Amino acid sequence: MFISVIIVAAGKGKRMGTKLNKVFLNLNGKPVLYYTIKAFENVDEIDEIVLVVSEPDLEFCKSEIVNKYNFKKVKHIVVGGSERQESVFMGLKSVDNRCNIVLIHDGARPFIDRVTLQKGIEEAKSYCAVGIAVPVKDTIKVVDNDNFVIDTPDRNRLMAIQTPQIFDYKLIYKAHLKAIEDGFLGTDDTVLVERLGYKVKLVEGSYRNIKITTPEDLIISEAFLKTI
Ligand code: CTP
Ligand code: MG
Repeated sequence: MFISVIIVAAGKGKRMGTKLNKVFLNLNGKPVLYYTIKAFENVDEIDEIVLVVSEPDLEFCKSEIVNKYNFKKVKHIVVGGSERQESVFMGLKSVDNRCNIVLIHDGARPFIDRVTLQKGIEEAKSYCAVGIAVPVKDTIKVVDNDNFVIDTPDRNRLMAIQTPQIFDYKLIYKAHLKAIEDGFLGTDDTVLVERLGYKVKLVEGSYRNIKITTPEDLIISEAFLKTI
């Protein structure tokens, strides 16, 4: 069983509002992306990591993160696209040709833990598409364009999906090709296999696995680091 990880870090981080891309912001002296890569580097089941970054960040990423911290499992660093989905696809095209299972993970989620990863990988041996998710804490409203409430879905049926999302490699590759063909742009990867009629299994993860998105997430992140 050959297991690859694609870490996408080629976004612009607009909602963070900093000049430096959020995945390179400093947390306790090291860039966010350092923690993300480390989380996968340390898991024995994982054979290789492919990093997807934007063109101007390529050299920095290679010298200041991968080489500096001696991450041995990072086999390729490739340039992403203008949408997350495109960045994932660039990663999918670059994994080792022995790949059976692929984990797709946001570079902006540095707090993914080993137990969740191992649980997800184990489930992916039985199901072709697995997502890490947590029950939503808030009640969610569906609204129209003017913010009038249309519906209040039962909270007990709602999960917030995170990453990694874990797939049979051939299936997710096929799903990306079909999305390109149909001009479909999804906000995550599981939706691409859902629309082909495949079942997606969710595995409960941790509320710590936040996606660093807005400035207050950095404060929360500093607090998490103190408890590791
Ligand atoms: N990502 C990517 N390529 C893109 C867009 C996003 O690789 N074209 C990556 C980001 O770097 C991030 C992950 O996908 O690690 C999740 O996306 P998000 O949190 O939306 O990050 P950004 O797109 O960078 O942030 P924003 O939407 O605020 O601009
Ligand atoms: Mg984005």
